[in-house]
Amino acid sequence: MPTEPGAGPATVAASQRRPALVISNATVFDGSGAPRFAGDVAIDGDRITALGAPGTLRGAASIDASGLALAPGFIDVHTHDDRMLIDGGAMSPKVSQGVTTVVAGNCGISLAGLSGRGRPPQPLDLLDAGGEWFRFPTFRDYFDAFEQQPAATNAAFLVGHSTLRAAAMDDLSRAASPAECRRMCAAIDEAMQAGAIGLSTGTFYPPAAAAPTSELIELSRRLTDCGGLYVTHMRNEAEAILPAIDETLEIGRACGIGVVISHHKVAGLANHGRSVETLARIADAMQRQPVALDCYPYEASSTVLSASRLSMSSRVLVAWSTPHPECAGRDLAQVAAGWGIPAEEAVQRLQPAGAIYFMMDEDDVQRILAFPETMIGSDGLPHDASPHPRLWGTFPRVLGHYSRDLGLFPLEVAVHKMTGLPAARFGLHGRGRVAPGAFADLVLFDPATVIDSATFDAPVQPAAGIHTVMVNGTPVWRGGHATGERPGRVLRREGRA
Ligand code: ZN
Ligand code: CU
Repeated sequence: MPTEPGAGPATVAASQRRPALVISNATVFDGSGAPRFAGDVAIDGDRITALGAPGTLRGAASIDASGLALAPGFIDVHTHDDRMLIDGGAMSPKVSQGVTTVVAGNCGISLAGLSGRGRPPQPLDLLDAGGEWFRFPTFRDYFDAFEQQPAATNAAFLVGHSTLRAAAMDDLSRAASPAECRRMCAAIDEAMQAGAIGLSTGTFYPPAAAAPTSELIELSRRLTDCGGLYVTHMRNEAEAILPAIDETLEIGRACGIGVVISHHKVAGLANHGRSVETLARIADAMQRQPVALDCYPYEASSTVLSASRLSMSSRVLVAWSTPHPECAGRDLAQVAAGWGIPAEEAVQRLQPAGAIYFMMDEDDVQRILAFPETMIGSDGLPHDASPHPRLWGTFPRVLGHYSRDLGLFPLEVAVHKMTGLPAARFGLHGRGRVAPGAFADLVLFDPATVIDSATFDAPVQPAAGIHTVMVNGTPVWRGGHATGERPGRVLRREGRA
């Protein structure tokens, strides 16, 4: 709490004690989108305790941030970090970018909620091709594991619909029966009680493609009373994208819940330019119901390798392949030519595999990024042998490339899209703001030099210009290196219970 002059002896004593740390002379971007200001920020324990004019606050320790920007730690709203969080928890691809909180369990895929079934169906295998990490039958089990060995970042979790289907159904190519729906509803109740923040679906993918809208509504009704979110990788992001948006909106209205359209994009050459239509549809719906969306700042997507996407793409890179690991990072066209076979046949030979598809239009990417309500989410795939560069580069690329170099929006707006806006949309209380009382999730970066270093050719590269990253008041990244600390917490759903 901020201290008031003359507010009583206890408050006076508190104000006279020096805070543990003061970051002085910073250019503060407070996460609200308001204009930057010069100031000092005091930190005690896991909280920001005071803001002051430059050079006015004193702490037991201090960091001179002259010339640097201080912002709330970035919130990566779209991740597949479920396993990385508990597999050592270093989270290097994230903390090196200034990310302090991730939302995991996206695209219908959560690590928790399924166990002991061996190799999971694609695309669940993007978390673990072998299947041995699928060993958390409930969210409480997973949260216990996280809290026994915390990660470097905070994390909030979605229940994956495809994961629940894989656990509850013997045949994923049909709608769930009433009994299977009841099992999935019970699993959603368990997850929400444990502290998950919503349900994710990936009806684009085979394990959930046969789920009708009625199944999605029946399951999402479990979110109504507890204020959970419906977060979706929609059925279609190409020709049929408008009906897919309409289905998402219908689910939100039917259940009285907020919806999040994940990694909004318009895929395929034939659909380039159609973000004009999709954003108009989304903006219109926002007048009547809570709708949110996120986006990654690249014109290539990445997921499992599938022949159906070849004709939509100008170029395809292999991200990983179980039988042919040597092909990771190579152009599919070159792999096929080397084998003397058509690309479709090479796809078969590489399976199971992942790929990167150049299938979006740069104008659409920029239009979606610049849409005021668009949040930033990396969709990074941390277990790919040659991952899409979004895993290591998303946030510095928005700050350095799109905001500073292209001038797509001011730096205040860029920071808001990755801090205050997602904290509000995902209900992450006390996060996403530089303000007294907020958690000390902070990033110090150089606005003149911050930039992504990861490329499609060399995707595993820490970004430039990120100085110090702090999670709950503890530094996790400093001077180009991880500190090894693991102060991350599970951010549980709050509010309506
Ligand atoms: Zn997805
Ligand atoms: Cu995803």
